[in-house]
Amino acid sequence: MARISVIGTGYLGVTHAACMASLGHDVVALDVDEAKVTSLAAGIVPFHEPGLPELLQESLASGKINFTTSWADLAAQADVHFLCVGTPQSPESPAADLSQIQSAIRSLAPLLTKPCLIVGKSTVPVGTAQWISDYLVANSPAGNDVHLVWNPEFLREGFAVQDTLHPDRIVLGIKNEADVSTLTDIYATALSGDTPLVVTDYATAELVKVAANAFLATKISFINAFAYLADEVGADVSTLADAIGHDTRIGRRFLNAGIGFGGGCLPKDIRALRARATELGLSEHFEFLKNVDEVNKSRRDYVVELAIRNLGSIAGKTIAILGAAFKPDSDDIRDSPALDIALLLAKGGANVRMHDPVALPQVLTRNLPILAIENVEEVFDGADLVLHLTEWKLYRELDPQSISKRVANKVIIDGRNCLDLALWSNAGWQVTYLGKPGSQAAL
Ligand code: UDX
Repeated sequence: MARISVIGTGYLGVTHAACMASLGHDVVALDVDEAKVTSLAAGIVPFHEPGLPELLQESLASGKINFTTSWADLAAQADVHFLCVGTPQSPESPAADLSQIQSAIRSLAPLLTKPCLIVGKSTVPVGTAQWISDYLVANSPAGNDVHLVWNPEFLREGFAVQDTLHPDRIVLGIKNEADVSTLTDIYATALSGDTPLVVTDYATAELVKVAANAFLATKISFINAFAYLADEVGADVSTLADAIGHDTRIGRRFLNAGIGFGGGCLPKDIRALRARATELGLSEHFEFLKNVDEVNKSRRDYVVELAIRNLGSIAGKTIAILGAAFKPDSDDIRDSPALDIALLLAKGGANVRMHDPVALPQVLTRNLPILAIENVEEVFDGADLVLHLTEWKLYRELDPQSISKRVANKVIIDGRNCLDLALWSNAGWQVTYLGKPGSQAAL
């Protein structure tokens, strides 16, 4: 079993650390945030991810994982260091902010006195791995004996544990052939199943990650562009997606039309990719990602427009919103379409009431002009309009009959196109889908 360190205890880092410990590796995880380290050492995961708290607690109990803020501890306890820090969008530009990567590498390099392997998992602009490798060789006492592998992560929030333990593929960007076996030993369980292994160079490995996210984002904006067309001509975008999805070259997944994508990955990754392509003189070839981003953002304005069309004016109207997280099974509200729509409505003078099964504490930390309601039934009280914006199972299981008596108007816009039309319309509700015939959006 390997002696592993994980640098950065955000989404990726905590999940990777707990999963590696559950496989029997000895793991030390570092964060510069002392409060986070204390909470994780007590078995508390500071975000919502199904199955992760249990896995962390088991690993703590078995002694396979410990947390630290000390770089010296980290260097002493491990031979393989996984780099899992965040690379958010820069506050000043669409490019990625690499300051956490730079700071981690600067802290680690002087402590690398023995041969070791650094494994980059963070999403980075192409060319970063080569820079990190050069920096470590030049600035570590072990010099050329410090090797780097680029091993991008593809985990989805809500499925993070499953995606880490049973990934769709393992990609290794390498410079030294000998490093492959260190990683294939660490990932032996997944590789003994049907997980394919792709061994390549640094640049290709870096690009695999951003290409995958750019492709997924493009699929979503593609179908959302067709949702506009469907509304215009009275066609059904869901049936269209089903029909083209039967072609295995296209596939049905990530063709659900609605209010579009958000979260901490897809939006910032397509912007960072465009920024990097522009730096490399290739901006004209990546212009399509600008459209992908614009179609995606326009879906939020479109729902507000539909609300105005429905209510005449939204000022002073009560609007109930189902969902705040950018997707179900997550409490992540980064670049959340649901939250953005809520804020646009509040800005327009609406009284916005919002429910989410897990993300409300995150909403409250931002001190927004939105009334957060913990009880799902109560969110409907006095509503002139209801918006369904995050497809939690809980919302699909609501009884529209019993909600009817709480609202002022039985009108709902389904921003995720997944509520049961017969159920809601039989209870007397007017349902508006996005890109479906007969719905208000199509009129
Ligand atoms: C994404 C990638 O899927 C993952 O591989 C990568 O490692 C990180 O980024 P995640 O951000 O967890 O994962 O979310 P994902 O499940 O991809 O959904 C992204 C957004 O797209 C959500 O807001 C979701 O609601 C939206 N979406 C997804 C659609 O609007 N339509 C779809 O058909 C699918």
